[in-house]
Amino acid sequence: MTTAQLIALDQILFILVAAVWAAAGGVALTAARQPREAARRTFLAAAALCAAAIAVTALRLLVTVGLARAGWSLVAEKVTLALPLVVVPALASAVISLPRLLRPGPEPSARRVAFPLLVTAYGAAAGIICGVVISYPVTAGGVVAVLALFSGASALTWRLLTPGPLSPGRLSPGRRSGDRWRLAGVSVLLVALIWAVSGNWSGGHLHAGHDATAFGVPVDQLLGPSGREARRFTLTARPATVRLPSGRTVEAWSFNGQVPGPVLRVRQGDLVEVTLLNRLPGQPVTIHWHGYDVPGGEDGVPGVTQDAVKPGQSHVYRFRATDPGTYWYHSHQNSSLAVPRGLFGMLIVDPAQPPKGDHTVALHTFGDRLTMSVDGSAPTDERATASIPPGSPVRLRIVDTDSLPLTLGLSGVPYRIAAVDGGDVPGATDLTGRRLHLAAGGRYDLTFTMPSRPVLLCAEGHPGLLIRNPGPGAPAPAAASGPVVDITRYGSRVPVPGRFDQEVTWVLDRTLALVDGVPKLGYTVNGKAWPYIPTPLVRQGQTIKITVVNRGRDTHPMHPHGHHVQILSRDGVRANGLRMDTFDVAPGEVWEVALIADNPGIWMSHCHDLNHAAQGMEFHLAYEGITTPFDVSAGNHPA
Ligand code: C2O
Ligand code: CU
Repeated sequence: MTTAQLIALDQILFILVAAVWAAAGGVALTAARQPREAARRTFLAAAALCAAAIAVTALRLLVTVGLARAGWSLVAEKVTLALPLVVVPALASAVISLPRLLRPGPEPSARRVAFPLLVTAYGAAAGIICGVVISYPVTAGGVVAVLALFSGASALTWRLLTPGPLSPGRLSPGRRSGDRWRLAGVSVLLVALIWAVSGNWSGGHLHAGHDATAFGVPVDQLLGPSGREARRFTLTARPATVRLPSGRTVEAWSFNGQVPGPVLRVRQGDLVEVTLLNRLPGQPVTIHWHGYDVPGGEDGVPGVTQDAVKPGQSHVYRFRATDPGTYWYHSHQNSSLAVPRGLFGMLIVDPAQPPKGDHTVALHTFGDRLTMSVDGSAPTDERATASIPPGSPVRLRIVDTDSLPLTLGLSGVPYRIAAVDGGDVPGATDLTGRRLHLAAGGRYDLTFTMPSRPVLLCAEGHPGLLIRNPGPGAPAPAAASGPVVDITRYGSRVPVPGRFDQEVTWVLDRTLALVDGVPKLGYTVNGKAWPYIPTPLVRQGQTIKITVVNRGRDTHPMHPHGHHVQILSRDGVRANGLRMDTFDVAPGEVWEVALIADNPGIWMSHCHDLNHAAQGMEFHLAYEGITTPFDVSAGNHPA
């Protein structure tokens, strides 16, 4: 079984274990009101349920052992808290309740027999809560909350099952003092619970140690060079209407009235200067250079590297285009709204010798239609076409600008993945009929030599791009349907760092957290949601190993700003050392990547499923000695 399957099974077992123990306890309890013969039969039914409960509990133990093999962070709270809470009372039930259910004595007390069964059910239920409240690491607050609920429920049940003050009867002075004690008990419990839970969710201030009062270099002084020879562009954010060939119209936000925004194409070594003007009513904007490792102050993250550019205002971005490759840009203010609506475009840095036959392909969903924009043309949800003479070299620069991964395929010709996330793939080999998995925000450059027959680039959910020769055409090839390429093992292995100055773990999960001040099921990193996720602190020159563990059931395209990482391993299998800036961590997966701290700043890191980012999955990586005068309050809203 894969780790993802074990996680799914574990979540089902969670509920099943609690349900069967509760059923066993409930059935045993009903015997208290029955005449003796009927009670015996009821006890037997309860015994059968108890046996079943023991079996599913054992199965849960096995599943946990399986998960533990994938990593301690997948099971820590289960091993230390959730399982003991169910296993210990389960053993007590097996020893105390089960024999009495099978062979009730002359005066069997249904209540006594049911109590261990019910406590086991509470333990199992506490385990469910444990999975919702605590992720990794296990926090004292979370443990207190879960234990308080468990012991509170058990004590109350004991009280209810014991004939006494709670049974119907006249109020007596004793009863009143008992009430006071119970009231006191419940309030202490509640206070403990609120304290524990809120402490578990919130945390220190996001920019603690790096805010305007701290000593250091402000991030807005880390700027790109300016020069008269700069390549200058102006991007004006304004509303636009997109008309898809299928007939749909979408009210979009655009750069320069175009959706996607203009393809910015520069030459390696150029100075780039982009002026952003905001003419979008009521919506602030920034520009983030996705995958381009620009100086810290040019990163375009509101509240971190600048203030969001309000309607009517402008901002200039400058950087030197040192790295050739395929990149993209997008607004980072309310990005989960702005990017889907169209505030993005491609950034292509051509090498000194620009390749021939170079085409850009931006994939984007408008409404519910996956569209393709070839070479900056208007997006189409119908089949796109291009005409290329046979024998010419072709490079397709493909970006997934959506929040979900795409399955791509190229058929009709052997092809190579020449570059991933802007960087060349060393030792890229020919692929025939294979499909590709492209992470949200990621880029692939596919290269091939145009054959004499047509070639089809397809993306699941879109009719594709048909590339044919000029002149009368042969029929389109069938869409590629071969196995999906494992990008972490494609090409040749490149050297990776073997020694690390620091190790950082990002455990991705879906747990109860404070999201925009409201407790809800959020997307969490190390048990917390933005802005309470602790910021790893690095020093310039350090090599950092990041272990990313996905405990949840969603795929998370992780995107650290300002840096590329090298992929070291996935699920314990050594990887090719490929450089990526957006890597898809599927449910249950464990990735190890290396990051070299060579670009000082305060960097956003987040899941590029922008809805997940908006629900908490965004955090920082900060350099020692760098501060920020900006704040994520005051109208700055990165996700
Ligand atoms: Cu496409 Cu924070 O980025
Ligand atoms: Cu995500």
